[in-house]
Amino acid sequence: MDQYIIKGGNPLVGEVVIGGAKNAALGILAAAIMTDGECHIDNMPDVRDTNVLLQAMEQIGARIVRKGPNEVVISGQSIDGSGDLIVDNEYIRKIRASYYLIGALLGKYKKAQVVLPGGCDIGSRPIDQHIKGFEALGAKVEISRGMIIAEAEELRGTHIYLDVVSVGATINIMMAASLARGNTIIENAAKEPHIVDVANFLNSMGANIKGAGTDVIRIKGVEKFHNTSYSIIPDQIEAGTFMTAAVATKGDIMIRNVIPKHLEAISAKLIEIGAEVDEFDDAVRVVASKRLKSTQIKTLPYPGFPTDMQPQMAVALALSKGTSVITESIFENRFRYVDELTKMGANIKTEGNTAIIMGVERYTGARMSAPDLRAGAALVIAALAADGYSTIDQIGYILRGYEKFDEKLRSLGGLIEIADTEREVQKFKLRIG
Ligand code: EPZ
Repeated sequence: MDQYIIKGGNPLVGEVVIGGAKNAALGILAAAIMTDGECHIDNMPDVRDTNVLLQAMEQIGARIVRKGPNEVVISGQSIDGSGDLIVDNEYIRKIRASYYLIGALLGKYKKAQVVLPGGCDIGSRPIDQHIKGFEALGAKVEISRGMIIAEAEELRGTHIYLDVVSVGATINIMMAASLARGNTIIENAAKEPHIVDVANFLNSMGANIKGAGTDVIRIKGVEKFHNTSYSIIPDQIEAGTFMTAAVATKGDIMIRNVIPKHLEAISAKLIEIGAEVDEFDDAVRVVASKRLKSTQIKTLPYPGFPTDMQPQMAVALALSKGTSVITESIFENRFRYVDELTKMGANIKTEGNTAIIMGVERYTGARMSAPDLRAGAALVIAALAADGYSTIDQIGYILRGYEKFDEKLRSLGGLIEIADTEREVQKFKLRIG
């Protein structure tokens, strides 16, 4: 049944520690097979997407030794590069980050066959920019029977201008170009913190990448990589999710193990609507004691407001005074939570890529279904802010990207549990009263 049962109405109060960034981890884990040495990776989020990727890497021959839930040692030396390198299983088909194995395998072995990426249904998610990059580096890429097949005699450095700012394409091209002959320049590159983290990881293995975090990345190809030990940056979106949870439940949360600079776009909007956000070296404290104000938000590539925080922010705005407008400019299908939120009493109208949110005073508990990862997390926050009980099913989406989500929320006073059966739902209700 895979659902959360939640009783809302308690402000979330206390401290929470943020884990490693999922979207950095996915690039880093894939890149780890590019060295014959060993990569010791720490602060890895123990979530479904990272585990599925590790399993697929093991299937193509990589040696994966789990030292703990958040620590792994990866060695690509055991991969047999003389055979076809085929990445496909029923789980990897459902995640997006499978595409990073194309960049990693193509860079190292000059060939890869990877199933077309899945991922959350948040709009059409083409990979033309990835392919354009691989082809510019000299690879032949074809799509056949649901697989992306890439091959090259050799990869040669080149000049690539991305037509759209793409996180995935930037990371993928950066990986492949790191082991190409000569120099590569990626223009109009994505600038997200996880781009910088993957570049730092590659550099720690011996790559020569400069400019990550700006829109021009320069890569000098090297012959091979060596051992490394690396700790992944904190998850900006997990942190932002707890920040909006504090606001929506009128709580007070100290969010630890974050890089406040990465949260600036989120902090700025929360301050604008009247929340209190205090920044420390590696923590932020978010406090909201009264009903907040409305605002306007447009999602944009970093350093703009992240699309991955749009649903959580909408949940907070739908409880604020006045009318807010959100424009989603990255993905066209990222308002699928609106119907679910309406069941709780939210007043939101969508028109194309715009949501017009008329703030209401309160939500009431409802039976809902998580439409995707971030929308699912947003519904959990709404349920924690609502009067009465809610159930949210399809929580598999949420577990793709949030580690111990229910446990962390419970430690803040949230009344939330995973219930596998209707009986467990009833037991929770009897216990909580
Ligand atoms: C990454 O997806 C993240 N996924 C997403 O995280 C995140 O929402 C997104 O970046 C934007 O920040 C992972 O890192 C695994 P893009 P990605 O390529 O790489 C268009 C989450 O909840 N585009 O930056 O797929 C595309 O359609 C999620 O954790 C092309 O047109 O995103 C979109 O409009 C979901 N052609 C825009 O670019 C391409 O070849 C940005 O997409 C590639 C992308």
